Amino acid sequence: MNLTQLVILPAVAAAMLMTAPLASAQSLDFDTYKSKVEPIFLKKRPPHARCVVCHSNSNNAFRLEALPKGVKEYTQEQSRKNFASVTNLVKPGNPEGSRLLIHPLTREAGGDLFHNGGRQFASQKDPDWLTIADWVKKGK
Ligand code: HEC
Repeated sequence: MNLTQLVILPAVAAAMLMTAPLASAQSLDFDTYKSKVEPIFLKKRPPHARCVVCHSNSNNAFRLEALPKGVKEYTQEQSRKNFASVTNLVKPGNPEGSRLLIHPLTREAGGDLFHNGGRQFASQKDPDWLTIADWVKKGK
């Protein structure tokens, strides 16, 4: 090892550490969350109320940022906060073990006994449910 390598290698190692994924939540892809998953929480899915209506600044574990009237999208910073809350309800790689997916799912389809917000997903074939499940599955 020459002198240049001695100087450069620790710098490279430090840079790699800084960009390395942190905890398990970091293995879930933020961009997919932002572009595919989060819009599901905002859109109208008749006959249900939108997730965001009940879950913005809620006092349960699924907590979304409040959107001012007329605003249809979150800022990057708000989405980061939402992501932090949502990933706590998710087991990377395991949709069936993820509260976010099981709690609002109809009981007959493997869901929980009761969700105050109703049976938001009629089955595991619901396209929105599948979008979230797909995101969770890829986060290993
Ligand atoms: C009509 C209001 C309402 C709507 C709409 C609603 N929820 Fe909820 N949700 C609640 C309430 C109240 C609770 C806390 C009590 C409970 O667990 O049922 C809750 C709990 C949850 C929890 C468990 C949070 C915890 O503390 O562990 C998850 C996950 C969840 N909701 C997901 C969703 C998703 C996803 C949607 C949209 C597809 C949705 N909810 C729509 C009212 C709602």
